[in-house]
Amino acid sequence: MGSQAAPDDVHITIETQQTALVIRVDKEKIATIVHLGPKLRNTAEYAAIPANGKRGEDYTGIYNSAYTSAGSRNLLEPAIQVTHADGNPSLDLKYVRHETQSIADGVVLTKVYLKDPQYPFEVTLFYKAYQKEDVIEQWSSIRHTEKKPVVLQKYASANLYIPAQNYYLTHFHGDWANEMNPSEVPLTEGIKILDSKLGTRADLFQPPSFLVSLNQPADEDRGEVIAGTLSWSGNFQLAFEVDPLHNLRIIPGINPYASAYTLAPGVEFTTPAFLFTYSNKGKGGASRSFHRWARKHRIPQGEGNRLTLLNNWEATYFDFNEEKLGALFKDGKKLGVDLFLLDDGWFGNKYPRNNDKTGLGDWQENVKKLPHGLGYLVKEAESAGIKFGIWLEPEMVSPKSELYEKHPDWVIKLPNRSEYYFRNQLVLDLSNPKVQDFVYGIVNDLLTKNPTLGYIKWDCNAVIYNAYSATIQNQSNLYVDYVQGLYKVLERLRTKYPTLPMMLCSGGGGRVDYGALKYFTEYWPSDNTDALERVFIQWNYSYFFPSIASCNHITDWGKQPIKFRTDVAMMGKIGYDIVVSKLTEPELQFSQQALKTYENIKNVIWKGDLFRLASPYTNDVASAIYVSESQDRAVWFTFLVKNRYKAGSTAPIKLNGLDPAKNYRIQELNVYPGASSAINKNTATYSGNYLMTIGFDPQVDTRRTSVVLEITDVK
Ligand code: DGJ
Repeated sequence: MGSQAAPDDVHITIETQQTALVIRVDKEKIATIVHLGPKLRNTAEYAAIPANGKRGEDYTGIYNSAYTSAGSRNLLEPAIQVTHADGNPSLDLKYVRHETQSIADGVVLTKVYLKDPQYPFEVTLFYKAYQKEDVIEQWSSIRHTEKKPVVLQKYASANLYIPAQNYYLTHFHGDWANEMNPSEVPLTEGIKILDSKLGTRADLFQPPSFLVSLNQPADEDRGEVIAGTLSWSGNFQLAFEVDPLHNLRIIPGINPYASAYTLAPGVEFTTPAFLFTYSNKGKGGASRSFHRWARKHRIPQGEGNRLTLLNNWEATYFDFNEEKLGALFKDGKKLGVDLFLLDDGWFGNKYPRNNDKTGLGDWQENVKKLPHGLGYLVKEAESAGIKFGIWLEPEMVSPKSELYEKHPDWVIKLPNRSEYYFRNQLVLDLSNPKVQDFVYGIVNDLLTKNPTLGYIKWDCNAVIYNAYSATIQNQSNLYVDYVQGLYKVLERLRTKYPTLPMMLCSGGGGRVDYGALKYFTEYWPSDNTDALERVFIQWNYSYFFPSIASCNHITDWGKQPIKFRTDVAMMGKIGYDIVVSKLTEPELQFSQQALKTYENIKNVIWKGDLFRLASPYTNDVASAIYVSESQDRAVWFTFLVKNRYKAGSTAPIKLNGLDPAKNYRIQELNVYPGASSAINKNTATYSGNYLMTIGFDPQVDTRRTSVVLEITDVK
């Protein structure tokens, strides 16, 4: 069945500059995927592509369905499974029509309308193709006009199909302070599922982001790679099924676990979007596409500016008062940052927030610590010459809080089970519109009272235990309605405060996804700020997220000297969480100079193309370079990650991304006071061709454990 195109088959081509996803619709009105990969020069030739990679018999003709429906003839993992109002558990989706329109400069939206012939039940598949960035954003909307509600048992965002000889999946796992450890595994016949059932802080154990390399294990610069990430901040499921024909099916979406969704007639259910990019230039090509896309199309002010900041969390924890903070403002100014960020512990009076057991939900200044209120602090910081920002965890509540006493029904918990806490706290029920208003009100009040407040760090430290809402009608809608409720709040805030810088934090990197990053200017990758650990953590986030959004703070974690810590932090958005007054004179002098240097190079790091040159997993050093779009400047970082005898950059490292025809000068930055750089004594220039073919040795060894080089075009 369905192995060859018939003359009157319809071909729907979803194309970017390099990539094509081709859907074929046959005379039975079945929509299947016949191609995902490089785009063909001649569109007419898509019709010649055999179905299913033509590898044998597909009993159903729908192994490669564009959106596999369960319950009729499907034999494999479905994308959608429903129980109709009359109890019928089957769904059949037939193509009705499609339309393609350009919706913005370089953005083309294709809609494919599908319908069940027996029921008033419709699905629309959306494919937004970002031309220049080579990213496709796919989601579905589901609607019916049956007499009573329909239960959606599964409702994936996408359903991809790819034939190759072998498939290698790179996924990431971890825990608190140990985020983003990669594992690369060959996919064999059957299903591999990556998922989260945590509700909130959903990425604590693994994020909804992955790479699939086709035919051979993923390489940085070569080979075919599909990188994907689900824009959803709740429970997700990514299913990878190698089917009986040895083709790969990828079905990402909301986790169906405990989430059979009751959908009323006439209401539209929109799935979160799945973002993917195909690269035939290895993992590097895929991540550069995601970075460009995120900066231009997703992250607020993605191509704009960011503030450097000094945070007090590790400097004071909960123990501070106005006097201490006043001194820290001055320290921040002396250091040279733009903003001071006041972290946890500033609120709660009946149950003061003096440790992590009380006060969440009571967002009034603690009168003992801050007798003059936040307005006073904002002004004090401003008169010290820096802006003021604040930490919030507005989705959460402490069992000991006035909020919980007043509104026990606003808390997610089971009526007949003992409360179970994660970091001594509970989660507010954001599926309840009253709670949404409360959370919005907290932030809006703060910003109304303090219009010059310059920054918000939005934390989220607990997972959902005992999932149950006091107000929702269908308990299995809760996980989904929670996230939708959160997005409603964030949408309202962003509409009113479009330019406010906001950090997405979740006890470290428990919520790093493009659903939330639509509202946040930056994210907190991990509470682990040991710079050696950060080399690895930041390396892995960099497959999906651009450096401008990565908050890299210099703290006292780990044993690395301040130069190493600063150099690692410069690979994204630099910040500090240290006691400035404890820095030695050379450390302070180095840091002040580093911030000035950063000012000069930050745009290359934030907006340039990232090329990972030497992986910390397979080398003594980790090395990566950011190259400006016009290839006239680059900033190159190399770090020693192993400490064995003679470990270091013993051979030249080949650069990447430069213009072979240009001549470049190499200058070492962040040279520590009193040290000298042999590289800076060398006045030679090198062609891009030489640097990319032969390379250059940054001279990293146990005495020079981190080296930052600026590469500049000599006109
Ligand atoms: C967890 C965050 O990741 C930390 O940076 C800090 O803000 C604490 N929460 C405060 O409770």
